[in-house]
Amino acid sequence: MIAVLGATGRVGRHVAAELAGRGIEARALVRRPDVGLPLPAVHADLEAPATLSAALEGVERMLLLAPHGPNQEQHEAAIIDAAVAAGVRRVVKISGSAPSLGPNGPTPTAVAHWRGEQRIERSGMQFIFLRPSFYMQNLLETVAPTVAATGVLASPFGRAPIAMVDVRDVAACAAAVLLDDEAGERAWQPTGPRPVNFERIADYLGVRHLKVPVKLTARVMRRRGLPAFEVEHAARMAAYFAAGSDGVATNDVERLTGRPPRPVEAFLDEQADAFRPASRLARILSHTTTKEHI
Ligand SMILES: NC(=O)c1ccc[n+]([C@@H]2O[C@H](COP(=O)([O-])OP(=O)(O)OC[C@H]3O[C@@H](n4cnc5c(N)ncnc54)[C@H](OP(=O)(O)O)[C@@H]3O)[C@@H](O)[C@H]2O)c1
Repeated sequence: MIAVLGATGRVGRHVAAELAGRGIEARALVRRPDVGLPLPAVHADLEAPATLSAALEGVERMLLLAPHGPNQEQHEAAIIDAAVAAGVRRVVKISGSAPSLGPNGPTPTAVAHWRGEQRIERSGMQFIFLRPSFYMQNLLETVAPTVAATGVLASPFGRAPIAMVDVRDVAACAAAVLLDDEAGERAWQPTGPRPVNFERIADYLGVRHLKVPVKLTARVMRRRGLPAFEVEHAARMAAYFAAGSDGVATNDVERLTGRPPRPVEAFLDEQADAFRPASRLARILSHTTTKEHI
């Protein structure tokens, strides 16, 4: 029996769908079991550790995908301890960006991921860590609305290389290591086929790129009413990526799944409607250029 924690999330939903599609015996561990998932669902709330033991009964392998937030370390500790108590043998953890992990990581999230990994390593369970970089799907929240409204891609990243990855490829890696009986204990770094940068993404979309300071992006987020934790996290991660700290692509997706990772161009083409300048003014401001390969 495989348990999928975070089965409604961006990566977890694809893992759940793949396991269901392949007829694997698996269950989703979710806060709301009635949301219509491809797997049988049981109630599990990381804020209520007492719910975790029953949810993990009979589970041999588990995907640990916890939300980032101020309580991440406690959440991960609760599920790891419950997994040990339930006799879970293998944990596949979705961790943070590989170079960010450590006791002095750039954000509390990076440090919490590192502490979670340490706790798993000490637990005696077999472990596999997936340490993805920036998800391509983040672009739908962080870039698409501004491009649609203004025709300009404003970001603090400029030409910094970022080893972006599609969440579907992270999910495929997770499913592969959950299912592979021979999977050894180690960490993988799923990335896209090559690093990309925001200037080239803007070129590909046919819009202008405007490099803005991290401080300005933080101010905009604060004005939009985002919680202080999120603003601080986003600002620190923005500075981390803008420094080119996670710009090296790997071939881990292909090694784990047998097929190459999706390039960012494919993702942008699929989501073209979301990235299209929506008004005449936005189209004028975009200074549309021809599509180039990123
Ligand atoms: N975004 C990136 O670029 C990126 C890159 C590398 C690593 N990561 C890591 O990936 C992880 C997931 O991040 P994400 O932004 O992709 O999250 P996400 O898709 O929103 O997934 C979070 C999941 O956690 C569940 N959840 C929330 N609170 C819960 C609780 N109290 N008990 C049980 N389940 C709960 C959510 O379920 P509900 O439906 O109940 O809300 C959802 O399924 C984080 O650890 C993050 O650090 C993200």
